[in-house]
Amino acid sequence: MKDHNDKDFRPDEKIEGIYGPPPELIEDARRMQTAYGPPNMMNGGFMMPCPPAFGVMPPPPKPEQYGIDMLRECVASIRMKTDFVPKAALVLGSGLGDFAETSIEIVKTVDYGEIENFPRSTVEGHKGRFVFGYIGEVPVVVMQGRVHFYEGYPSAVAVLPIRLMSMLGAKVLFLTNASGGINANFSAGDFMLITDHISSFVPNPLIGRNIDELGTRFPDMSKVYDPELRSIILETADELGIKLRQGVYLQLTGPSFETPAEIRMLRTFGADAVGMSTAIEAIAARHAGMRVCGISCISNLACGMTDQPLSHAEVQECADKAAPKFKALVSGAIAKLGKIL
Ligand code: HPA
Repeated sequence: MKDHNDKDFRPDEKIEGIYGPPPELIEDARRMQTAYGPPNMMNGGFMMPCPPAFGVMPPPPKPEQYGIDMLRECVASIRMKTDFVPKAALVLGSGLGDFAETSIEIVKTVDYGEIENFPRSTVEGHKGRFVFGYIGEVPVVVMQGRVHFYEGYPSAVAVLPIRLMSMLGAKVLFLTNASGGINANFSAGDFMLITDHISSFVPNPLIGRNIDELGTRFPDMSKVYDPELRSIILETADELGIKLRQGVYLQLTGPSFETPAEIRMLRTFGADAVGMSTAIEAIAARHAGMRVCGISCISNLACGMTDQPLSHAEVQECADKAAPKFKALVSGAIAKLGKIL
């Protein structure tokens, strides 16, 4: 197939994947239109080639990219390497990249590349492996490197690792990330306990055929971030003398940072911090019945709140600086989970 770098490329040529959805999607859309009329927000047609209100919707994933069969294959592939059964799962965000090496008694590591069909992280600073081991007495599985929607993976594919960790036995999911502070009282380097999230700007990871083996079609989201887990984290922060903010995390698709006008809009929506990862993971985990908690490292104040332009390097640098405290808080809180697991 020609691509736009070819010298005989003509921009009016239709090129699959660049100038339109793949033919099978067009065929799907044609069938939907025959059955339900032209696509619109009411008949679900917004999932098909016309874009949604915010952002650009990639084609919905095919069931074989995220369905129960693929999950079972991934579990089997891990089970060939270890029979370790974790009770808690931890996702490491920016800055916590070397947490596994410093804070876990490692039993086994499995590179994502060793798991057939597993989505790979392409982000700098994200390693790409599962680490199995112990934090205190608690058996954990840790994701060193996550998969993001902005890397081109549909939401349902980006959350495959979360579902996998649930199927391996984890009952609790501990999410960490770096995010931009929107709340005017926050400073770069602060930590924020996530009390709730807004995921409305990102395609829901449960779109598509429901995986009944994991959870119900319409899962409740009234208490995504578990009150008991939150109080354990608050108690740990208090004991360690770490100031812990609390607030609402809002996920956008990224990968561009926001504009000042977008940040003003998000503030009026009730967001305290903005990032590009965590909410869809929390949704998938709740769908699968896991108990969820999360902490954001506020790696920068959001766009327009300072005169500084934003860069990934700055986010990484601030997250790295905050890492020692972040590690103490996360490992301290997980070790305490032993008493409720
Ligand atoms: N915006 C979105 N995602 C982020 C930011 C931000 O300012 N900082 C770290 N992740």
